[in-house]
Amino acid sequence: MKVGVVGAIGYTGSAVLGVLSGRPGTEVTVVTSRGDAGRRLADMLPQLSGVPGYRDLALEDPADLEKIKEKDPARFPEAFFLAVSHRASMALVPRVLALGAKVIDLTGDFRLKSPLMYPEWYKCEHTAPEFLAEAVYGLPEIHRAEIRKARLVANPGCYPTCVILSLLPLAEKSLLGPDSPVVCDCKSGVSGAGRSASVPNLFAEVAENFRPYKVVGHAHTPEMAQQLALAGGKPLRLTFTPHLVPMNRGIEATVYLDAEKLPPYPELRDLYEERYASERFVRFRGEGAVPETADVRGTNFCDVALFRDEAAGMLKIVSVIDNLARGAATQAVANLNLVSGEDEGLGLASAALRP
Ligand SMILES: NC(=O)c1ccc[n+]([C@@H]2O[C@H](COP(=O)([O-])OP(=O)(O)OC[C@H]3O[C@@H](n4cnc5c(N)ncnc54)[C@H](OP(=O)(O)O)[C@@H]3O)[C@@H](O)[C@H]2O)c1
Repeated sequence: MKVGVVGAIGYTGSAVLGVLSGRPGTEVTVVTSRGDAGRRLADMLPQLSGVPGYRDLALEDPADLEKIKEKDPARFPEAFFLAVSHRASMALVPRVLALGAKVIDLTGDFRLKSPLMYPEWYKCEHTAPEFLAEAVYGLPEIHRAEIRKARLVANPGCYPTCVILSLLPLAEKSLLGPDSPVVCDCKSGVSGAGRSASVPNLFAEVAENFRPYKVVGHAHTPEMAQQLALAGGKPLRLTFTPHLVPMNRGIEATVYLDAEKLPPYPELRDLYEERYASERFVRFRGEGAVPETADVRGTNFCDVALFRDEAAGMLKIVSVIDNLARGAATQAVANLNLVSGEDEGLGLASAALRP
């Protein structure tokens, strides 16, 4: 299968290329960069220079996609990953679909169902709202059957992947609602902010430091609430605080719920065990196990555990993913696998790189 990556030298684009290098039957034929078009991919990403199929690839300008197809239709990808900045996919998606390729979009541009939500949460008008209804939210645990038939997959955000998988069994039983607030306290490694330079993400600003950011109003909040409300058939009250942790990769979510509004703990444990028994990429951890980011590094796994705090009458759910893997690249490749009729796990590692 021929695939392309737009935004190939960014963090998620290069992570997608890393995963694709181990996916049987995959030929990456188009990689793009606006600023480095014409340069060799292997020179820009030395970590990938040993991949035989990548050695002769040159970066191309994403403005030339139409010309690339016209010149050599046989080389043109059947599917593209859009690993680009927010808003860029609003312009790219109509073009790529018109060129006959499927799209796995890693931005937030097609994750929210209503265009009216974009000015509030993404501070912009949506310029391709006609594609929002068609886009399928790419969390296989919820939308696997629709993803298989999709032409446009909105790959979930990293924090939403972790939080939604923490809460999905409860949401599906309509156990979350407006009268039981959900408090999501989350932490991310610095690669979550992408590769472009910014002062708050300099080593000297991040190392030996710990801080929340976008304490109110992070754009991932409506994405979580939307999917959980759809799963449960009713709206919920969800608050989300992200924090920056001085490490490269990894997301941890601790979610707090009022246990008095929920069934007894043994029933909840059974509910999670049953819901995730057939989900190969969600590992529901046994009693007392504490999920750690190092156990999922580089993999598509999400590890989830429940804790009861009887004294406080609270339930705590702890979950972890790798933001660049399950939060981006491996989930994107799982979605490619589904849209192309392959096994969901084709090419995905089953062991984390630890230490
Ligand atoms: N980092 C994460 O953990 C993570 C997880 C999940 C989702 N995401 C989402 O994935 C997307 C990419 O994130 P990232 O971390 O990979 O960012 P990044 O490291 O900054 O890379 C983004 C790439 O997009 C390209 N780009 C930007 N604007 C473009 C445009 N208008 N047209 C074509 N290419 C454009 C840039 O490449 P050139 O300048 O070379 O063209 C850049 O290399 C973002 O929307 C982000 O929110 C990120």
